[in-house]
Amino acid sequence: MTDTNKTTNQQWGGRFSEPVDAFVARFTASVEFDQRMAKQDIQGSIAHAKMLTAVGVLTEDERDQIIQGLGEIEQEIANGEFEWSIELEDVHMNIEARLTQKIGITGKKLHTGRSRNDQVATDIRLYMRDEIDFLLEEVTRLQQGILSLAERNTDTIMPGFTHLQTAQPVTFGHHLMAWYEMAQRDYERLLDCRKRVNILPLGAAALAGTTYPIDRNMTAELLGFERPTYNSLDSVSDRDFAIEFTSAASIIMMHLSRWAEELVMWTSAQFNFIYLPDRFCTGSSIMPQKKNPDVPELVRGKTGRVYGHLMGLLTLMKSQCLAYNKDNQEDKEPLFDTADTLRGSLRAFADMIPAIEARSEHMYEAARRGFSTATDLADYLVRKGVAFRDAHEIVGKAVGFGVEQERDLSEMTLEELQQFGDMIGADVFEVLTLEGSVAARDHIGGTAPAQVKAAIKRAQDELATR
Ligand code: ARG
Repeated sequence: MTDTNKTTNQQWGGRFSEPVDAFVARFTASVEFDQRMAKQDIQGSIAHAKMLTAVGVLTEDERDQIIQGLGEIEQEIANGEFEWSIELEDVHMNIEARLTQKIGITGKKLHTGRSRNDQVATDIRLYMRDEIDFLLEEVTRLQQGILSLAERNTDTIMPGFTHLQTAQPVTFGHHLMAWYEMAQRDYERLLDCRKRVNILPLGAAALAGTTYPIDRNMTAELLGFERPTYNSLDSVSDRDFAIEFTSAASIIMMHLSRWAEELVMWTSAQFNFIYLPDRFCTGSSIMPQKKNPDVPELVRGKTGRVYGHLMGLLTLMKSQCLAYNKDNQEDKEPLFDTADTLRGSLRAFADMIPAIEARSEHMYEAARRGFSTATDLADYLVRKGVAFRDAHEIVGKAVGFGVEQERDLSEMTLEELQQFGDMIGADVFEVLTLEGSVAARDHIGGTAPAQVKAAIKRAQDELATR
């Protein structure tokens, strides 16, 4: 990166009587972070040059020189040979200056009919579209991972919790399919966000449009955008799509943090519900026995920075009058970091989830210990003609007795149970088993193994259409 003390910008220095202060040049430059959009900037410029040629603003020869030059620049950047310069402020002017260096005056014609304001808005949208496409694949991979673990655990019984207290038995497969549903909504949200990302702002120029006979439909088509934007002022100032993306990302991170929390608990000696392979864990430098679930913990922690970026972008746009303001340059770092964080976190989870093994005997034992079939006993009494509130009371007393005796309902004798209600018969033991309890919840969305298998099948069919 070159950085001289005093600088006159060749792209806009015409009306300036003194060079920009060296600190101000550094302070206002974005090239250190927006050079990441170089590929998209070149892609946009090539489409723009083709369109300008089609409408007669550039000659075919000029167009070809521009395309050739930009192609070489892309190579230079890929090879790490490109010299980025702070004085040239941002990725757009760095590339344009290099093009002019290479092909002379024709390079200076590329900027006809556009402004950096619509150029940058185009570049970000192209960049985000690429990111979203990649993230959609990662969410899909995560969903596949969840399904593969769920498939192996359709009959694995664990305690279901409310308030983190044992509530009713569920299957591990059912629990995992709850995660799947969250991931499905995450996928749909990203896809929905993509629709509003995939619109072309180029042609808005600085803010009011341009006097050249541009063909925005053509540029949109060349770049794979759905259509051009419909208002030039809005085009250069709109960053809703960035906020939407960060919002969808925040919700994904929130989900990952919830799963992370469960994984951290479940791998603890106190729960001991799952085995997380060593490759996703690290040790302690002082306690030789430790195996820490660092990956879920770190993802849980990274959720905070993505929420921060969402708040940052909302605040960045707050009260901004139309149209483009330099404030908008601040959109990139939060966006890039959001995309990077999401990539890493999704990848970690997509790799890790299918590698988990259930410690089914511990899950079963935990479900057995927590009076998790108490509701089943109440439902049984209702079927025998007892009003639900009375049934609730009867079972509550039976549980109290069990707590005193340190015995589960299924471990009591028929006589013991009958002290609380004489309508209880020998058939009660069918409902007091964990297997009976889960199998009885046999409706769409229920935890019965048959329903979980159906849910997995439905999900597999959906994934197969992607
Ligand atoms: N680097 C700027 C950004 O990221 C590009 C657009 C600047 N336009 C301008 N007129 N200063 O937003």
